[in-house]
Amino acid sequence: MTPRTFHRQVFWLIAAGTLALLISVSLSVSPVNAKPPAQETEKYCLSCHGDESLSMTLPSGETLSLYVAQDDLDHSVHSTVGIECEACHNNITEYPHPENKYQSKRELSLAYYQTCEKCHSANYEKAQDSMHAQVAAEGNKNAPVCTDCHGAHDVRPANEPRSLISETCKQCHSEIVESYRQSVHGAALMADENPDVPVCTTCHGVHNIQDPRTSQFRVDEPELCAGCHANKELMDKYGLSADVYSIYKRSWHGVDVSVYKAKWPTIWHDSAVCSDCHGIHDIRSTDDPASMVNKQNLLTTCQQCHPTAGPNWTDAWTGHNEISLERTPFLFYVEKFYGSFTSFVLWICVVYVVLQFVRSVVDRMRSNRP
Ligand code: HEC
Ligand code: HEC
Ligand code: HEC
Ligand code: HEC
Ligand code: HEC
Ligand code: HEC
Ligand code: HEC
Ligand code: HEC
Ligand code: HEC
Repeated sequence: MTPRTFHRQVFWLIAAGTLALLISVSLSVSPVNAKPPAQETEKYCLSCHGDESLSMTLPSGETLSLYVAQDDLDHSVHSTVGIECEACHNNITEYPHPENKYQSKRELSLAYYQTCEKCHSANYEKAQDSMHAQVAAEGNKNAPVCTDCHGAHDVRPANEPRSLISETCKQCHSEIVESYRQSVHGAALMADENPDVPVCTTCHGVHNIQDPRTSQFRVDEPELCAGCHANKELMDKYGLSADVYSIYKRSWHGVDVSVYKAKWPTIWHDSAVCSDCHGIHDIRSTDDPASMVNKQNLLTTCQQCHPTAGPNWTDAWTGHNEISLERTPFLFYVEKFYGSFTSFVLWICVVYVVLQFVRSVVDRMRSNRP
């Protein structure tokens, strides 16, 4: 080692030592009122917000509880990944807090939910395109934001159990949820969290809910139902026919709707889709006397659009069934009769033509004799 490299090494050693010393000094003599280290934030904030009686009065006159329950935090999906107060309340680091501008509880919610965007930008963007955001933009303050459906300090997976989804929507759409609960789909969900039946979000989506009363939604509906009802394996489980969709597609209504879907999806057409005959949120089993397609109600259902239809109309209609001896014996025999009658008539014709031919040949031979 030359003296020159030795000096250089000593220099670097001294430099590194001084730096280390400086860092440790700056850490130990931090200013008195600086914010506490990250892992201490929750403890610091809860030293006041853990008090159940802490509250404030907003300019609107409402009392806002400022209590944040440790129990809620413990169960929140965020706590388990180490997300604490400051991650969301990034403008508040110490007390006194910056002055706030909310007039009411709702305004506070509408201001604070924006913080979700930071980490969940995909869902946030989707939500901006939704029907809910649209009505919010039109001034409806009751349109839901993230925290109405998920909460703020007690965020849990929104689909566990699965019936929680309808409970979430029920806050504002209680009548629909009530009718869904009594439907064949809803009853199966409520009774045993059945994973096979559709929930609100299966048909409407979640964060990008669109207006379901457009002609586009209408022409897409048969395929929505077919997602399950044309699935043979799934339908076998419930003893249901998986042909309902294919037979519908061949019906007058089905062909009509397919043409509109392909050519004019934005033009409204009245030809029947699944829900016109079965109901929407109140779909029932076909043998439930309250079902719209139960024998006693079927004519009324058709008369919504065919006001002059009489009882013969529904009797002649084969519904979703291939003609069979069990379900439609009369049509079965009519079809059988025509099936055999037609070939019988054809055979007669063939025999007649052959006989005519023979006859004409014989006649010609006779007339050719001298
Ligand atoms: C010394 C007690 C104290 C501490 C510590 C404290 N707060 Fe507060 N906080 C209050 C009081 C009192 C209010 C009522 C409004 C006010 O006085 O500013 C309040 C109001 C709030 C509000 C609602 C009003 C607003 O400003 O938007 C939020 C959110 C809040 N605190 C979050 C926090 C967070 C996050 C922490 C930790 C970084 C924290 N607080 C630490 C006492 C405290
Ligand atoms: C995942 C983000 C998130 C975290 C983490 C979080 N908050 Fe909040 N906090 C919010 C939102 C959003 C609101 C608005 C809630 C509403 O709409 O009612 C809120 C509201 C508040 C309020 C006003 C009173 C109320 O409940 O509406 C206080 C006080 C508060 N938070 C304190 C805290 C404290 C203390 C912590 C840490 C222990 C904390 N927050 C952690 C998002 C969060
Ligand atoms: C600092 C980043 C951050 C912020 C801010 C934040 N989140 Fe989260 N959130 C996460 C992380 C990380 C997870 C866990 C990721 C995972 O398990 O997929 C999570 C999970 C979730 C889940 C559960 C997803 C599931 O598995 O079912 C929901 C719901 C959720 N957040 C909603 C919110 C809402 C509502 C807000 C606003 C009040 C918010 N988050 C703010 C980071 C954040
Ligand atoms: C109208 C109610 C509603 C609103 C508003 C809402 N969510 Fe959800 N969210 C749900 C439901 C319900 C689920 C579960 C969906 C499912 O499993 O079908 C969910 C699932 C999630 C998940 C977990 C699954 C995933 O997509 O990653 C996250 C994260 C989430 N939401 C974040 C947000 C954020 C952020 C906002 C605000 C921009 C928001 N949500 C607004 C109802 C809502
Ligand atoms: C906090 C209240 C609230 C919650 C929670 C909520 N909605 Fe809504 N929803 C509204 C409001 C308000 C409208 C606009 C109603 C209007 O203009 O008639 C709306 C509109 C809709 C529409 C469009 C049809 C219409 O009437 O305009 C659908 C579909 C819808 N919501 C489905 C859902 C589903 C599915 C959920 C649960 C995942 C849900 N909503 C949760 C308040 C809510
Ligand atoms: C099987 C599919 C399906 C399911 C499941 C479903 N919906 Fe619907 N929903 C529809 C269809 C189709 C329409 C359009 C009805 C129309 O043409 O008027 C609709 C319309 C709506 C509307 C607006 C029209 C109205 O009647 O006010 C709301 C709000 C709504 N649904 C909410 C919900 C909620 C909440 C749930 C869960 C309990 C739910 N839906 C479950 C298919 C479904
Ligand atoms: C996510 C899958 C799924 C979707 C989507 C779905 N269904 Fe169902 N549906 C089921 C299952 C599973 C059952 C059987 C439930 C049971 O019996 O417990 C069922 C039962 C029914 C029944 C009762 C049959 C009987 O006589 O017992 C009718 C009718 C029905 N669905 C119509 C529809 C219509 C119309 C749509 C579209 C608007 C639709 N379903 C969308 C899964 C689905
Ligand atoms: C014009 C009215 C009408 C339309 C449109 C219609 N259905 Fe039906 N559906 C009925 C009638 C009537 C029955 C009961 C008699 C039968 O089984 O044919 C029935 C029976 C059913 C059943 C019970 C099958 C079983 O095995 O017992 C299901 C499931 C069903 N329909 C689903 C659908 C789906 C999905 C669509 C749309 C693709 C649809 N329906 C369109 C009238 C209709
Ligand atoms: C939502 C409205 C609606 C409902 C409900 C409905 N239909 Fe139709 N139906 C139509 C339309 C629209 C046409 C097409 C008429 C045209 O193109 O001229 C049609 C055509 C028909 C046709 C062939 C054309 C004709 O007029 O003879 C038959 C058969 C028919 N429907 C039977 C039924 C039966 C049976 C029911 C009840 C189970 C029923 N429909 C329920 C709207 C409906």
